[in-house]
Amino acid sequence: MSFSLNFKGEQQISIEKGQSILKAALAAGIPHYHACGGRGQCTTCRVLVLKGEEKLTPPTSNEQAIKKVNKFPDNIRLACQTCVLEEGVEIQRLIRDEIDRFIFVDDYAADTVGEIGELRKLALFFIDVRSFTPFLEANLPFDVIHLMRRILGIFKNCIVQYKGEIIDTAGDGLYAVFGLDSTIREATESAVLAGFKILEDLKIYNNTYVRPYFNHTFEVGIGVHVGNVVVGNVGIGLSHNLTVMGYPVNIAARLQAATKELNNNFVISALAYRLLKNPPYSLDCGYLNLTGVSNAYEVKLIGQPYQSISASPTGKLLNGPPNPPLEQISRHSGDMIKGKN
Ligand code: FES
Repeated sequence: MSFSLNFKGEQQISIEKGQSILKAALAAGIPHYHACGGRGQCTTCRVLVLKGEEKLTPPTSNEQAIKKVNKFPDNIRLACQTCVLEEGVEIQRLIRDEIDRFIFVDDYAADTVGEIGELRKLALFFIDVRSFTPFLEANLPFDVIHLMRRILGIFKNCIVQYKGEIIDTAGDGLYAVFGLDSTIREATESAVLAGFKILEDLKIYNNTYVRPYFNHTFEVGIGVHVGNVVVGNVGIGLSHNLTVMGYPVNIAARLQAATKELNNNFVISALAYRLLKNPPYSLDCGYLNLTGVSNAYEVKLIGQPYQSISASPTGKLLNGPPNPPLEQISRHSGDMIKGKN
């Protein structure tokens, strides 16, 4: 059995009983956006029901959850989760004009019937240079830029060596992901190895160049977490760079920020730590309330204490040592950290 379904301002299409509106629209050649692939996770397929709200199947559990979070009214439905039960339904696509397309879908994605994102489990890696402001104040701008380029070059080489992808740079830090082409266990291991390699290469650079010529030591903070994120391009058309977004990204960024308070240059979530095949020695510091994050996170310290940085609060420890004893922080000599102290 089939019904007719009117897309206002577009065309009348035929829809089979039990077929989702999204599937029927795509079959009829309507470029209906569906960023999550029709899994009820993104809302880009949403439609406004103009007539016949009662002639549609009730919202699925996925749709109910997403509508609740977004506070959608009853007449907004997800096309991928909705079927037509009777004749007389009229709807309007909400992401359909050029501005919507510009915001939500890049040219390449538009060519591929509207998928603009993919849910992936990745290792998320944030790094930032510490003690940068005093260096900035004391040195000429050209020297500052020269050294920053060298340091960012170290970051990049190590990340690329372990098959990470740099997603964004901001000032004296960057954000990378691991796992676009590997399992989450391999990705987490790679992220940790890349972090240790950066610490090692930076130490050499400090010893051979920065300290002798500038009387300064650069230090960094690294945060690693894992989680489900959306990978795609949700830019505004200025470039086709990869974008990775999701709540776990915020957690990884906050872990990096917490390195200062925890007086340890490498902080990893316990979730990520448990995925490591050869985990390095770690200090447990219990659960941490991260700024701007509602749940407390169990974290592990796998780096070393800072040499020149005074702590400032970025989060609140629920239990565990606020400033780990320096002598406790060392790494074992397993495969993960060969060649390190
Ligand atoms: S396509 Fe993502 S919710 Fe329908």
